[in-house]
Amino acid sequence: MTTTETLQQVLSWIDEHLEESVTRLEDFLRIPSVGTDPAHDEDTRKAAEFAGSLLSELDMKARVHPTTGQPMVVAHDDGPGSGPRILYYGHYDVQPADPLELWDSPPFEPARVEGAEGPMIVARGSADDKGQLMMFIEAFRAWKAVTGSIPVPVCVLLEGEEESGSDSLEPFLHEHTDELASEVCVISDTGMWDADTPAITTRLRGIVYLQATLHGPSHDLHSGVYGGAVINPINALTRIVSQLHDDDGRIQIEGFYDDVEVDEQLLKEWGQLNFDEAGFLDTAGLKSSTGEAGRSILERVWSRPTCDLNGIWGGYTGPGAKTVIAAEASCKISCRMVPNQDPRKVMDSLKSFLEARTPEGCRWSFEEHGCNPGICVPTDSPWLTTARNAMGQVFQNETVLIGTGGSLPIVGSFQEILGVDSLLVGFGLDSDRVHSPNENFSIARYRHGIRSHAAMIEAFGQMQL
Ligand code: BES
Ligand code: MN
Ligand code: MN
Repeated sequence: MTTTETLQQVLSWIDEHLEESVTRLEDFLRIPSVGTDPAHDEDTRKAAEFAGSLLSELDMKARVHPTTGQPMVVAHDDGPGSGPRILYYGHYDVQPADPLELWDSPPFEPARVEGAEGPMIVARGSADDKGQLMMFIEAFRAWKAVTGSIPVPVCVLLEGEEESGSDSLEPFLHEHTDELASEVCVISDTGMWDADTPAITTRLRGIVYLQATLHGPSHDLHSGVYGGAVINPINALTRIVSQLHDDDGRIQIEGFYDDVEVDEQLLKEWGQLNFDEAGFLDTAGLKSSTGEAGRSILERVWSRPTCDLNGIWGGYTGPGAKTVIAAEASCKISCRMVPNQDPRKVMDSLKSFLEARTPEGCRWSFEEHGCNPGICVPTDSPWLTTARNAMGQVFQNETVLIGTGGSLPIVGSFQEILGVDSLLVGFGLDSDRVHSPNENFSIARYRHGIRSHAAMIEAFGQMQL
């Protein structure tokens, strides 16, 4: 693909104004928009307003819509007045920053630190997803600055509940179907292959999330007076959840693997990517992998379902000793789903697994926090081919097709409600520490992302549909 003179100018403009783009991102990162925490509702609203004002500043028609949860930011630009309309999605909410003491600098005071790719920004949300959604906004800015308009009509949708289940998203899509109608949805909330190799993600895992509490005695008991003679819900719960996997890492929930398909061709393609297993483990501070016997790490993460405890609590966890048998014990369990598995069926079987092991005198209560399928994105779409070719103009290496272990349930909602497929072009790396202390994003990849979006948007405008 030969680069047009205009794109060349846009790319140069991006480089010349990179410092200002970084400063705008840092301002965004200073707003602690922890969408899941009501104590941060005001901050989350401020982040929505901030994103809205960045878009209006570009003369886009931007609105911040209140919902029963966090606000939705929607903006439109007619571009040159014709051409395929592209929907851009991102999320301005971030994960909670705790445990705070494990950060080297305060999570909402962006710090510039020297990393393997040069300077990087350390802050909650730098990679997931403020840094990534800023890349397309900055690409719009560059196009407007150089040519006065964006090459195609665009619609932007930014939500503030992605990290907490996107409860408001589906009702919003139903109410705004016409306004959001587009040919394709472009999302930057996934990863690259490595720092120099761009990637398009074509498979996402889904997620089934259950909180379960085992109730026993009517109240907390003295562990000397009652211990040994009555049920201890913590002992019982830990014994039950320890049976979720066998010694080979196989999940024991009934029918769990029934609908899991193995795509030999895909596994072969992934095999050719030459994944650096040791490097991946190193980003987790580990030397060895565990999981289903006889499978590679990529296969385990990209194509196999999981069952993980995310939290477990009950009884006394304060300082010193308190001799007590707790009245109840709780845990949070998440199962990552792969395409073709029915998440409802898995949720019900997980509950049955726990129910079937209920000790005498106990009962369970459940709370569901999500039930979404794994997703395949079409690999033969002209959008994917166009995006892939366009990125050839800003990267030395060819774009590869990858899977991910993470989930973006909204991709399913866009498909179902708006009838649009998503194009997942992300710029994260495993070393970004998303959801963890010291989350970071390199300025080099921020730049690559802005430049890639600038190139892709021009290419979308040149597509013969
Ligand atoms: N951006 C991530 C998903 C992701 C992570 C994709 C890593 C590719 C690589 C997203 O913000 C996220 O964290 N999703 C949640 C979904 C859940 C809250 C329903 C996840 O995967 O845990
Ligand atoms: Mn994200
Ligand atoms: Mn996330």
